[in-house]
Amino acid sequence: MDKMWSGRFSASASSLLDQFNASIMFDRKLYREDIEGSLAHATMLAKQGILTAEELKDIVNGLNQVMNEIESGEFEWKISDEDLHMGIEKRLTALIGDAGKKLHTARSRNDQVAVDFRRYVLRKNREIVEALKELMGVILDLASKHTETLMPGMTHLQHAQPINFGFHMCAYLSMFKRDIERFESSYERNNISPLGCAALAGTPHNIDRSMSAEILGFSGVSTNCLDTVSDRDFALEILFNISTMMMHISRLSEELVMWSSYEFKFVELSDEYSTGSSIMPQKKNPDVPELLRGKTGRVYGSLMGLLTVMKALPLAYNKDTQEDKEGVFDAVETAEISLEILKEAIKTMQVKEQNMLSACKVGHLSATDLADYLVEKCGIPFREAHFITGKAVAKSEELKIDLSDIELTYLQAIDARIKEDVIPYLSIRNSMNARKSSGGTATVRTQEQIEFFQNFLKA
Ligand code: ARG
Repeated sequence: MDKMWSGRFSASASSLLDQFNASIMFDRKLYREDIEGSLAHATMLAKQGILTAEELKDIVNGLNQVMNEIESGEFEWKISDEDLHMGIEKRLTALIGDAGKKLHTARSRNDQVAVDFRRYVLRKNREIVEALKELMGVILDLASKHTETLMPGMTHLQHAQPINFGFHMCAYLSMFKRDIERFESSYERNNISPLGCAALAGTPHNIDRSMSAEILGFSGVSTNCLDTVSDRDFALEILFNISTMMMHISRLSEELVMWSSYEFKFVELSDEYSTGSSIMPQKKNPDVPELLRGKTGRVYGSLMGLLTVMKALPLAYNKDTQEDKEGVFDAVETAEISLEILKEAIKTMQVKEQNMLSACKVGHLSATDLADYLVEKCGIPFREAHFITGKAVAKSEELKIDLSDIELTYLQAIDARIKEDVIPYLSIRNSMNARKSSGGTATVRTQEQIEFFQNFLKA
């Protein structure tokens, strides 16, 4: 009968219930948020005359000692205490006596856990944004070195038009910039304090919610207590934001896996970030991007899990909500290590420019340019130009050469309107540099994009 809520019970909880009901094994991760929340709450209670200055002093000293005990590993986390809130309060009361029992005035575990978890999510939101910016910095360095490195741009995983590798990297920078903006907008929306909502309906005590909100760094207080104690949108948002970020990471990872294969050989991951095979001595495997791709699925699982937990919950707090934490912790930790290792893998990988260039010599990458020439210089309608170019591609296939290497006489045999000024149109580099419309691949446009992302990271 050592439970804090055991007043109305006459028999002890079974140990099976303790095991099933407890969250202390995982929510202890929130100890810092929990103690800071209690310090802010107690400070506000004292300011409002609900606690004496003496009681506040005892609570502050006691909570600081609990914090030290937790950080030094001395603190005893007991399943029978159910969750960290009760574990900490119990230890506080053991240390300071009656003042400890007053801490929970005008508060419930429902607003307490909402404060702790929300603040954890907000802190991790900030840390992930910082890590994303570091990753962007590394990709940006790579992009700026390769604004003239030709590679085949693809659609349907087929050679389409020549681009430069820096431009390709700028596509990922665009995705990661959107991710950062998504995290930041979630931060702004969710940076409001649940503290003082108490169990569900507010409290009759004369509290000052704005004061505790300010101490905790929130930008304001929530509007409706009934919603606030059961709102987990902030947790869903970080899961969605991490999922989308991981989806982007998995796309880049997929390309790194492909590019590391003998078929492509566009990049070589460093030995530090590659693995071997236990049976095939010759192998060097891209386990890092493969795992990044795989971990994306696991993060989606956490998002679907919490959406499903929240589905159809009646107002207000329900114990179902205790299932919100493990998936978020796992997704956050997955995001943190993924961002770190992807950054290192990219930093240390080698780009095989020569192989990228050779790949541009298959697949007739300048075919669109020939069609554009026919339109621009010969006044031929695009549909007809497309057909004539198709003939030129077929001729090149027959000659077993790339369209960029075809001789003028062959082209003129297909259509006499083609003149010598077609030659520059067939060059792969010219083709890339011709795409100079806004946001295009031309080296000058790629350099502008790089500058845009540099400014974004500086802001
Ligand atoms: N451990 C609980 C959770 O994580 C804390 C809130 C408990 N509230 C309650 N009314 N039983 O959700």
